[in-house]
Amino acid sequence: MTKNADSRAPVAILGPTGYTGLELIEIVARHPRMRVAYLGSARTPAPRIDAEFPRLAGRMGEGVSAECRAIDHDAIAAEGGGCKLAFLCLPHEAAMEHAPPLLARGVKVVDLSAAYRIRDTAVYERAYGHHHTDPKNLEHAVYGLTEFAREQVRSASLVANPGCYPTVAALALVPLLRTGLIVPDSIVINAASGVSGAGRSPKQNLHYPEANENFSAYGIGVHRHQPEIAQSLRTFGTTALPAAVGAGSRDPLFVPHLLPLERGILETIYAEPAGAGIDTARVQDCLKQAYRGERFVVVREGAEAPTLRDVQRTNMVHLSARVVGGRVVVVGVEDNLVKGASGQAVQNANLMLGLDETEGLM
Ligand SMILES: NC(=O)c1ccc[n+]([C@@H]2O[C@H](COP(=O)([O-])OP(=O)(O)OC[C@H]3O[C@@H](n4cnc5c(N)ncnc54)[C@H](OP(=O)(O)O)[C@@H]3O)[C@@H](O)[C@H]2O)c1
Repeated sequence: MTKNADSRAPVAILGPTGYTGLELIEIVARHPRMRVAYLGSARTPAPRIDAEFPRLAGRMGEGVSAECRAIDHDAIAAEGGGCKLAFLCLPHEAAMEHAPPLLARGVKVVDLSAAYRIRDTAVYERAYGHHHTDPKNLEHAVYGLTEFAREQVRSASLVANPGCYPTVAALALVPLLRTGLIVPDSIVINAASGVSGAGRSPKQNLHYPEANENFSAYGIGVHRHQPEIAQSLRTFGTTALPAAVGAGSRDPLFVPHLLPLERGILETIYAEPAGAGIDTARVQDCLKQAYRGERFVVVREGAEAPTLRDVQRTNMVHLSARVVGGRVVVVGVEDNLVKGASGQAVQNANLMLGLDETEGLM
């Protein structure tokens, strides 16, 4: 055991055998102030995580067990002096099952699923096709788009970690909406994600012969992230947007695509400038002012748009903006498993545990 082992905050990861779970284990294993104290799996028997992912063998950190255990809320709350926080890397329904008993035992929760993201349960149920079983905790859940919700996250017991696509869309658009540089109901978000965005369970359209050397749009205007994007832009950007009503005709239009790559999201976003004289310098300057001092958002200058390679395996979002052909065009990139999921989850957890927001992240 290392000298400072006892001072590292013990955390639990539920759903460690999925893609966001693996990414969280990797991040927490390198984190100087956090340690994995509990890996909770619903499988029987629960696996060893280094058998499930041999790349973790010998890399979990000192004093950290590679054994997954059954999801036992009392044991999680008692583990290592009490897990301070649990990350839920679970399907939405399973997150609603496990968050309430953990919160009742004083364990803070960062939920990576969509269970607590949408404020209106009717909108949630329409988008996700199942009943919302925990409206009580939804009431106090904080939507953890860290750059715009830092103070609320700090004091939250339950953080709904934003979705991967909505994170880039909001970081690209909120400053432009706040400063009135774009027409709110003119937004089109053209987005593409690597295949890991769909999780680890096999699906036919994700099968290598189907996805490789292919490129397809899906869920045009009806994707589950559409109402989350509308809600996020309205909450942080401008109330001039309609409430999160789903696929209303003048909601931001969201068009996702499946990219035959492991990881990464690129969004090209179009909007009408809100007046004459709004040029590239003004939109670039708006984003630069908004993210001055922000560790995880880079606003790029020059004509070259950011690429996935610039951000893969990092917690960074890169943005570039210009005005061309009478349109504002913003390009944003992130790693869907890091800033779009487990990295942002650790960013939020750092704040909830009173740590430096950037600790353990790069
Ligand atoms: N992938 C992304 O880029 C991304 C980004 C942002 C947010 N998210 C969200 O994060 C969550 C996890 O995503 P993921 O991509 O990591 O999914 P995944 O790869 O499919 O992993 C899901 C995990 O949940 C476990 N699980 C499934 N059903 C369960 C149940 N009923 N009770 C307990 N555990 C159960 C699985 O265990 P088994 O291995 O035993 O099946 C696995 O460990 C999802 O809600 C997803 O929407 C994903």
